Amino acid sequence: MTDPALEADTLRERALTTLTTARARTTLLTSCVDDPDLTAQHSPLMSPLVWDLAHIGNQEEQWLLRAVAGREAIRPEIDGLYDAFEHPRAARPSLPLLPPAEARGYAAEVRGRVLDILESTAFHGTRLTEAGFAFGMIAQHEQQHDETMLITHQLRTGPQALTAPDPDPAPLFTGPSEVLVPGGPFTMGTSTEPWALDNERPAHRREVPSFYIDTTPVTNAAYRAFIEDGGYDTERWWTPEGWAHIRQYSIHAPLFWYRDGKQWLRRRFGVTEAVPPDEPVVHVCWYEADAFARWAGRRLPTEAEWEKAARHDPAGDRSMRYPWGDGDPAPEHANLGQRHLRPAPAGSYPEGESPLGVRQLIGDVWEWTASDFLPYPGFRAFPYKEYSEVFFGPEYKVLRGGSFAVDAVACRGTFRNWDHPIRRQIFSGFRTARSEAV
Ligand code: AVJ
Ligand code: FE
Repeated sequence: MTDPALEADTLRERALTTLTTARARTTLLTSCVDDPDLTAQHSPLMSPLVWDLAHIGNQEEQWLLRAVAGREAIRPEIDGLYDAFEHPRAARPSLPLLPPAEARGYAAEVRGRVLDILESTAFHGTRLTEAGFAFGMIAQHEQQHDETMLITHQLRTGPQALTAPDPDPAPLFTGPSEVLVPGGPFTMGTSTEPWALDNERPAHRREVPSFYIDTTPVTNAAYRAFIEDGGYDTERWWTPEGWAHIRQYSIHAPLFWYRDGKQWLRRRFGVTEAVPPDEPVVHVCWYEADAFARWAGRRLPTEAEWEKAARHDPAGDRSMRYPWGDGDPAPEHANLGQRHLRPAPAGSYPEGESPLGVRQLIGDVWEWTASDFLPYPGFRAFPYKEYSEVFFGPEYKVLRGGSFAVDAVACRGTFRNWDHPIRRQIFSGFRTARSEAV
């Protein structure tokens, strides 16, 4: 029998650790540039970094101090400024935002009070507090914004502000280029993962016919072959919307790539470097991923195919939390958490592979899938409609698996991300699939 007091201590410890890890990352991302840089808008697609900082504090205040602990608002007048639905990103720099020192002070004050209530909160009784869900949700929210802020850092011009060690070099991957995932039902989504968000629920059975999926994400070298074969000039590889989009915006290569004679260069966090051939391609939009797949005689995997490849254990006919099993991600499994500021070479992390031998499903690059972002059968919005429900529909495509920029707390086999098919400032790549010939 599990001791409930002991279990509560473990959950409290986990809540504290994940909140502290997130804050360390937020602090790094907002202290490595000066104040004018924090308040500047580096791209109309992004908020000023100082907005993310106070928004992180405001969400934490709303959910942990007000909803969970019933406290009064510390600064009720700022809620509207940090409501993502009231002001589009492009409009945020002209708002009367808290200046950097005040934004830092506010986020720190909220956190101090949260650590006080963490001691006395019972981790059961309400859906919001069950197993520490609200604390987990807020740690995930902060880490999602830490990824968003890293995207802002990548878009920012000027000298390098962030550094991290490179991933270990990997021997050139020589395994099979694709694996067969046998047809049959599997369990998609979860009803038991305590910190899973509403759109990952509930667990349900899906029938998935046999298909082949790439063993690794598509590399820069493979993507370059598509470019050099005239991929961007050949209408038949593209959907009509994709073709119109790349023509209108003169898109000829992944974002941040530049041609220099015969060489391809890219800009990465303020440094220009040669495009590394065996690294997964990153900063492509859904239209580019989809066109590449058609050129290769293949297609993007559906979201259900991706999750079956990532979670199904054919030996036990059950779905695991991660490709490698049920244990939390460790550095030998996957490239997560901004430990490195780039994807690792294709074929890295043999210890993170799935039972069928599919690699790097978790970490490195978010992987575009063929699927629209839709609710699972039995979906219920929790705790607020604006996390997932308002985004369901054909405007958004699902991305899976997480990137090098997201922390393990906001990444698992069931985790669903979504974005518009034109977006490529995100850390997005893909792998391809094909149906088994009948
Ligand atoms: C799940 C990454 C699409 O950044 O818009 C952050 C996460 N939701 N604050 C986003 C989110 C509210 C969301 N994505
Ligand atoms: Fe947010």
